[in-house]
Amino acid sequence: MTAITDFVSYEARGTVGVITVDSPPVNALSQGVRAGIQGGIKAAVADDSVNAIVLACAGRTFIAGADITEFGKPPQEPGLNDVIATMESSTKPVVAAIHGTALGGGLETALGCHYRVAVPSAKVGLPEVKLGILPGAGGTQRLPRVVGVQKALEMITSGNPIGAKEAHKVGLVDQVVEGDLTEGAIAFAKKVAAEGRPLVKISEQNDKLAEAKKNPAIFDDFRKKNARKFRGFEAPENCIKAIEGAVNLPFPEGLKRERELFMELMVGEQAKAQQYFFFSERLANKIPDVPKDTPLIDINTAGIVGAGTMGGGIAMNFLQAGIPVTIVETSQEALDKGIGIIKSNYAATVSKGRLSQEAMDKYMSLLTGSTNLEDLKDVDIVIEAIFENMDVKKEVFGKLDKICKQGAILATNTSTLDVDEIGEATSRPEYVIGLHFFSPANVMRLLEEVRTKKTSPTVMATCMALAKKIGKVPAMVGVCDGFVGNRMLAKRGEQASQLILEGAKLEDVDRVLYDFGFPMGPFAMSDLAGNDVGWRIRQGRGVTSPVADAICELGRFGQKTGDGYYHYEKGSRTPQPDPIVEEIIVKAARDAGINRREVSDEEILKRCIYPMINEAAKILEEGIATRASDIDVIWVYGYGWPIYRGGPMRYADHIGLENIYNDMLKFKAEHGDEWTPAPLLEKLVKEGKGFKDL
Ligand code: 3HC
Repeated sequence: MTAITDFVSYEARGTVGVITVDSPPVNALSQGVRAGIQGGIKAAVADDSVNAIVLACAGRTFIAGADITEFGKPPQEPGLNDVIATMESSTKPVVAAIHGTALGGGLETALGCHYRVAVPSAKVGLPEVKLGILPGAGGTQRLPRVVGVQKALEMITSGNPIGAKEAHKVGLVDQVVEGDLTEGAIAFAKKVAAEGRPLVKISEQNDKLAEAKKNPAIFDDFRKKNARKFRGFEAPENCIKAIEGAVNLPFPEGLKRERELFMELMVGEQAKAQQYFFFSERLANKIPDVPKDTPLIDINTAGIVGAGTMGGGIAMNFLQAGIPVTIVETSQEALDKGIGIIKSNYAATVSKGRLSQEAMDKYMSLLTGSTNLEDLKDVDIVIEAIFENMDVKKEVFGKLDKICKQGAILATNTSTLDVDEIGEATSRPEYVIGLHFFSPANVMRLLEEVRTKKTSPTVMATCMALAKKIGKVPAMVGVCDGFVGNRMLAKRGEQASQLILEGAKLEDVDRVLYDFGFPMGPFAMSDLAGNDVGWRIRQGRGVTSPVADAICELGRFGQKTGDGYYHYEKGSRTPQPDPIVEEIIVKAARDAGINRREVSDEEILKRCIYPMINEAAKILEEGIATRASDIDVIWVYGYGWPIYRGGPMRYADHIGLENIYNDMLKFKAEHGDEWTPAPLLEKLVKEGKGFKDL
């Protein structure tokens, strides 16, 4: 075996030269890998003992793409396009051997090979759009030449990978290899050489482009169909333009077009924010005082207390991950209802063709219902998801403590209560943790994990790993009222309520936040979630909110009652402004002695967003969140903060903390002490720093 570079080696195995990339963790295309592959191809071409070449990877995956840590740094030779050109023009057939994931530049490298084989579990895709960019090494030019324009549009603008079987069906993979991949790839390469099969250069294959050439409307149709999905994002449009280039320009010109469009995105704020977010999401997995090698508790079974909306949604996550669930309710009726809802949710997904009947049957077979807490005695983790009442929760935890085996984790899904206090209701507070799922719990990606003063490192590490297993993105936070997400949300809610009293129309407040990139504004969101939820919490805490209370007193609980802040026609989810609500607002403003005025969009945005950022500064100061980027993860995955703005902390740094600070002082002069900048914000401004510097 010859080392070409530190990360790539070359070896002749019989008549096939095998180039192996070995650059943990994911074989990203750093300079050393690029140079190694190019050198490996040259070595194999020069090696008279071989007549075919295999490109394979060691470790857990094929090449997972460009090395994102190199982005923004001066480019180093050789560029990936040059490496791919060297491969494509090789005089001996090159076969990519794919396992794990061939993503981004990884798939582009494979597309530069003459053939591709893959193991059945492999996945291939071009996820660059998720990093705010587009495939920049020929992916937008070669993929449509293999899978056709429509499929390429879908794959490149969604960034979602496809499995080996589908890839084989659409011609992206030539053979699915069972058994040892390298051996399979060598056998395939020998066959190609023996049969004298052509060196397929994808850049020269134009047949699959013909249909789109005849029907250029395909692009605008695609834009129209996906307008909602692409709203606010810059990258998908450039992806589409690059694929148009593939259809309308000769290959070399298409590559140039791709590069221009790639660079346009790369220097923009969205790409920077999305790449920052990629690393933030992974950083959130790491808890500074929980060592990487902390032993984990095996989680093979789960118990859920409460089969309401949250309990049912939480159960679905476990079932889909293949973990058997016992769900407990107080009455058979409530249990049947809860299980019925889980079943009908799955049935609806089956009828939309997004889940097979077989998979649904498998999930349901993993679910057991019970009306007896004793049935949780053997489970590895229990998640309590009953209504928010401290006394009842303490009683349940006291019972669970007695029933559940030693070493079982007892988790609460509370969104408002003190998890330390819940832990103290047991004799094992170190096994108690908050697992705050977001509604709908089977859909929302965020899992806000809440550590108490006593939660053990093993429990924390286990719950972080568990989150990944059930498809969630975790962020660990400490105990405070509302934890991180809802505590910040409350600040936005207060301002939104105040703004409508001062004269802003509620539909304008919603529009401004929608245009900022949220899926909906605060009033539409409240109507969707149910206005009665907040009303009950306020009643419990003895606080009032004039407009929100008046709306609830009229039974206007939101979409479910047909009226809330807006009116909804029967069967429709489209909010319509309602004069009755306007009257309520005008009266409440009069009662409060407020002179109503015009409020600009700019003021609406600043007044909704800046108090959140200020609250986040307090959260960081108190150590409730470990890092600013964890807060961004929480807001993107739990509250629909537009990922292309990176999250509230990243956005604050982008706007400039000094600008935010100065605006806050202006608002303070107009509206009072609630606008006092947090000490941390003030400190950072004085030091000329941002949240990124913490
Ligand atoms: N560059 C640099 N580092 C990368 C990386 C990349 N492309 N992909 C992953 N990593 C790092 C992660 O940051 C993480 O580091 P850490 O351990 O220090 O936190 C480590 O590799 C492991 O990653 P994950 O925790 O994500 O591991 P998983 O096994 O869960 O997932 C994966 C593996 C599916 C490959 C996932 O990491 C992934 O999706 N990676 C990004 C793929 C991607 O976006 N590729 C396109 C890059 S852009 C490009 O190719 C441009 C080209 O067109 C020119």
